[in-house]
Amino acid sequence: MAKPHVFVSRPVPQEAIDLLAKQCDVEVWESELPPPRADLLAKTKDAFGILSLLTDNIDAEFLDNAPRLRVAANMAVGFDNIDLAECTRRGVVASNTPEVLTDTTADFAFALLMAAARRVVEGADYVRAGKWQTWGPMLLLGQDVHHATLGLIGLGRIGAEVAKRAQGFSMRVIYHDVVRRPEIEKGLGIVYADLDTVLKEADFVSVHTPLTPQTHHLLSGPQLAKMKKTAVLVNTSRGPVVDPAALYAALKAGHLWAAALDVTEPEPIPMDNPLLTLPNCIIVPHIASASVKTRTRMAVLAAENILAVLNGQRPPTILNPEVLKS
Ligand code: GLV
Repeated sequence: MAKPHVFVSRPVPQEAIDLLAKQCDVEVWESELPPPRADLLAKTKDAFGILSLLTDNIDAEFLDNAPRLRVAANMAVGFDNIDLAECTRRGVVASNTPEVLTDTTADFAFALLMAAARRVVEGADYVRAGKWQTWGPMLLLGQDVHHATLGLIGLGRIGAEVAKRAQGFSMRVIYHDVVRRPEIEKGLGIVYADLDTVLKEADFVSVHTPLTPQTHHLLSGPQLAKMKKTAVLVNTSRGPVVDPAALYAALKAGHLWAAALDVTEPEPIPMDNPLLTLPNCIIVPHIASASVKTRTRMAVLAAENILAVLNGQRPPTILNPEVLKS
């Protein structure tokens, strides 16, 4: 019997491909860039499964085009690229890769926070540009991280891990989320507050919400205006949670001290976006989970989700378990 066809929409760590290949006919899109839509549709027309990335739009059109599809396994914790309701309606399993990337992503959020606070990128650029002539008492003065207040927007797995890292820097941590997490509040000694209070009191605001209609441009002009002039904004969640035009205006006008973005709206950020002209805005290409070990774990977990569907087992990180009941 022919093995079921699984499309992998970009090169991923080989362990995942090898795992899938034991039971599936695997086709990998061998390019650094995502497949253009027409290619994505052509490659998945008869597919049993797709190992998808956040750059693939798994929507009604995609699903209509792939009537044999049983599983869309996203290699990401975020799944705003997947229309979950449309998957569920068609009995297609959707899955993501939570947990395996939590620590790595939290590490990176903290790295961005530190880099923006202490002007690491500006300092490195300064040296490379040949500007370093002497030790300067007023050179590249930053903001202290230790004993400052960290405001978390979103206290899911990643937000909670960032809070743990903040303890090592003797930071006071406050958070806002749509649901309160009393056990984490108690365990980590952190305090819940409304969004305005978090924005007003935090020296560092780190964003950890999923992208939903409710969080789209959650941080726009009025919210950024509430932040301290010395504050730093860090975003490792999804770009559209922060309004880029409002962020530019706030940074340019000195209403905000710095920003560090792993994610932008849109991605990639257009080279004429004015945020790229600001020395106090660090932008990196959506790499918070990009460690060798973590990307391998993510790919393998996505592959395990596909194989579980194939073998009639419960996929370990299924997003729509209701499809299993039908
Ligand atoms: C990356 O952004 C992810 O959602 O895993």
